Amino acid sequence: MTRATRVLKAVRDREAGIAVLGLGHVGLPTALGFAELGWKVTGADSDAEKIALLAQGQAPFYEPGLQQLLSKQHTNKAFQLTGDIAEAIRTSSILFLCVGTPQRATGEADLTQIELLAQVIARNLNGYKLVVEKSTVPAITGRWIERTITRHLAAAFSNEDQLRGTKTGRVTQPDQGDFDVASNPEFLQEGTALADFFYPDRVVCGVDSEVARALLAELYEPLSRPILFTNLNTAELIKHAANAFLATKISFVNMVADLCEAVGADVTEVAHGIGLDARIGDQFLNAGLGFGGYCLPKDLRALIYLAQENNVDASLLRSAESINQSRVEQYLKKVHQALWIPRDKILGVLGLSFKAGTDDIREAQSLKVISALLKEGAVLRLHDPMAIENTKKVLPEQTGRLSYHSDPYEASCGAHALLILTEWPEIRSLDLQRLRRVMQLPIIVDGRNVFDRSELYEAGFEYFSMGRVDVHSWSNYVPRGEPSVAAARKAVQPCVHDISRRPNLTPRLTERLSS
Ligand code: UGA
Repeated sequence: MTRATRVLKAVRDREAGIAVLGLGHVGLPTALGFAELGWKVTGADSDAEKIALLAQGQAPFYEPGLQQLLSKQHTNKAFQLTGDIAEAIRTSSILFLCVGTPQRATGEADLTQIELLAQVIARNLNGYKLVVEKSTVPAITGRWIERTITRHLAAAFSNEDQLRGTKTGRVTQPDQGDFDVASNPEFLQEGTALADFFYPDRVVCGVDSEVARALLAELYEPLSRPILFTNLNTAELIKHAANAFLATKISFVNMVADLCEAVGADVTEVAHGIGLDARIGDQFLNAGLGFGGYCLPKDLRALIYLAQENNVDASLLRSAESINQSRVEQYLKKVHQALWIPRDKILGVLGLSFKAGTDDIREAQSLKVISALLKEGAVLRLHDPMAIENTKKVLPEQTGRLSYHSDPYEASCGAHALLILTEWPEIRSLDLQRLRRVMQLPIIVDGRNVFDRSELYEAGFEYFSMGRVDVHSWSNYVPRGEPSVAAARKAVQPCVHDISRRPNLTPRLTERLSS
């Protein structure tokens, strides 16, 4: 029996251990998920503070259900935590690499942490190991991991030979069967990471050996979900292509949103209409401020870089990126349309995280909007259900200019307008009458189209949203350069019906129209 088949048997008998190296937004849900499925798991991270927090049973970031699962696994002897990466490698047979792969200024993925980990694995290879990339990495990273481990192993063997005085002058080749590299990209979304772990649409495994294939099939067997086996490079590309496609889909609908505004259509209805086509699907067609977060922007850039490096036309992806970058500007235009001059206006800001269900603010579009409005001299009252603490670290409070409020109504107090920057369901279910009572002016500029327009009109708000013709809004219907009542009347003609049905919403406009 080879060492690899011994490990396979140990896995089948549930004796072999899994190490998850790196306990961030991917690693921690993965480690807890495998532990919950009954595997022996060691979670390792070189951040001592994080390990200390985890050891006390406290999750280092917010993710729905994560704290509960950690509290449960905390007492499970088969779930261990350590700050000693080398030790975790030595005591486990399947190693999941979940360290960060940030981006360089060029857009290229920075794989320094992956390379370092490969070196540590080589130094601690005390039996067969399956090395599994879970971090998002560009195609052919697996080959580099393989090469790095082999080189460092060879160097270690050669040094040992010399130390022993064998002086053979020959580099002892390590047993190539001692490790395999596989790719098992994650498709977890922040905010639903645990549900995505336990109920994935598919599990993708890039393998180049039968043992690697058998081990991964065994690991994921309890989930009873479809497993797609490919080669290593293909699995790596599936991950990047998936994120780039999602990003492109969002930019596509945002481009359509701009067109909707130009021709008087409604992007929500267009998205619904195209999404009913099973070939298109209805997900990731929400127009608004565009995509942020640690993954979509970074992975899109990494794929552009990879395409360029290989002389492949990346213009489609570059357009998706530039449409996304223009979203903040587009939104700020609406803020100006709504408020005229933001200086000294009090703005309640609802939503700071890059998306709902997380306290993560990395590459959040909200931060760009807030910084721009601060520069313009607006007074900002910020609220988020989860991300206040993280935002404070990058945007500290400024007396009289920038304050934080755990209560959304308090953030809206005295506001000349409310800005909606994240699609939290909590925001959608706010009491509109109460909001209206505490605000100075009933104006909402919704960057995520979270509200139903008719509800807002009925509640007496002026409402500005993305990719929809907001019929109630006076400023929208005064054509540029023609601020006369006659011109306005002409421009609002198609909307008169809507307005007359809600006469108390736009008193100024109604009065002028009926004069
Ligand atoms: C993304 C992918 O969706 C996951 O499949 C992947 O595993 C993950 O990256 C990763 O590579 O680790 P995530 O970054 O958690 O997940 O966030 P998404 O749900 O994809 O949302 C990204 C951004 O797009 C958010 O800012 C969100 O507000 C925005 N978005 C999303 C829209 O503007 N419109 C939509 O229709 C959907």
